[in-house]
Amino acid sequence: MKVINIVGARPNFMKMAPIIEAMNRHPEHFDQILVHTGQHYDERMSKAFFEDLAMPRPDIDLEVGSGTHAEQTARIMVAFEKVCLEKRPDLVIVVGDVNSTMACTITAKKLGIKVAHVEAGLRSRDMNMPEEINRLCTDVLCDYLFTTDRLADENLAKEGVAKDKIYFVGNVMIDTLIKHRAMAEKLTLRPKLGLEKRAYATMTLHRPSNVDHRNILKGIFEALHEISRDLPIVFPIHPRTRKMADETGLGHFFSSGVPVKGLWVTEPLGYLEFLHLNMNARMIFTDSGGLQEESTVLGIPCITLRQNTERPITCTEGTNELVGNDKEQILEAAGLILRNGSPKGRTPEKWDGKAAERIVRVLIDRMVDHNG
Ligand code: UD1
Repeated sequence: MKVINIVGARPNFMKMAPIIEAMNRHPEHFDQILVHTGQHYDERMSKAFFEDLAMPRPDIDLEVGSGTHAEQTARIMVAFEKVCLEKRPDLVIVVGDVNSTMACTITAKKLGIKVAHVEAGLRSRDMNMPEEINRLCTDVLCDYLFTTDRLADENLAKEGVAKDKIYFVGNVMIDTLIKHRAMAEKLTLRPKLGLEKRAYATMTLHRPSNVDHRNILKGIFEALHEISRDLPIVFPIHPRTRKMADETGLGHFFSSGVPVKGLWVTEPLGYLEFLHLNMNARMIFTDSGGLQEESTVLGIPCITLRQNTERPITCTEGTNELVGNDKEQILEAAGLILRNGSPKGRTPEKWDGKAAERIVRVLIDRMVDHNG
């Protein structure tokens, strides 16, 4: 079976890596082509992850770069259509919910090519999130929907997706975390920064709803600044956030000319370095989807700067709390954890490091055995 695997943006790499590896264990069944759309292109947003995760280099780079949603999506579709016409794959595999995920799904389906979506069925019910639109469009079109939890199965069934297309396989992002945990533990970045275990926080921030409005971004930076007086914070800053901060006159919060005690703002970190810092943090501040899941498995309290999540299992079973982006509420949530300790959570069902193998088994069973 000829398979095209799609990656485009940072959170795709750690989801695709274990799938490629699992298919490599069955070379008699899979002929793989890796396509990078180029949605993310900076060394630290893309290439560094291939090295950390020991992923093969992409066979094809569409080099679409940044743009408005329509521009980026359209550029991916035009470029990917040519690849599909030339390579004629039996299956395209997409992961997550970024523009590359949706664009490649639409393109392949219109050419009659089967598509598998890994991480299907997640719903925030927030149509202001571009990712929610990407998730809905992708899931309605796909032939194989691989889910991370049972609620995702229910979401899909309620939307009319046939049950025999839905497979609850677990979480491929956690496959990657489990594989790299011991390696990350051995790194020396934390002691080099002078950070004691459980005596610092980490932070990521990039959602348009948090960073594209000056007042909201300012409130978050002020909260961060205040918390960092008691608890040092490591903040690898996303290019989008840095750009918005600079453009709106908030760069002074972290410009090198004005050192802020306890706040270490750095370029985006590699996968292993960031896992290394997260696994021993006192708490994690984030608006990312993946970090809500990773913190749940690591058992580290996660303060999510959003009003909703497409991953509610991280709140009901894990260590995640939805706090929103109001300065006072962020301060209160952090203060509670500092005073009262961490909430206890448990690892969700099938987040056990074997999700990619389950996906590959389904594909062999459904596509190879049925055809052969
Ligand atoms: C994208 C995804 C988001 C995901 C995030 C992870 C969509 C709609 N959004 O958001 O779901 O959580 O990636 O990081 O697909 N930029 C660079 N260098 C890069 C890439 C981007 O400087 O390598 C800057 C550019 O100014 C660009 C901006 O970041 O315009 C936004 O990039 P884009 O890919 O549009 O969305 P993200 O915010 O990264």
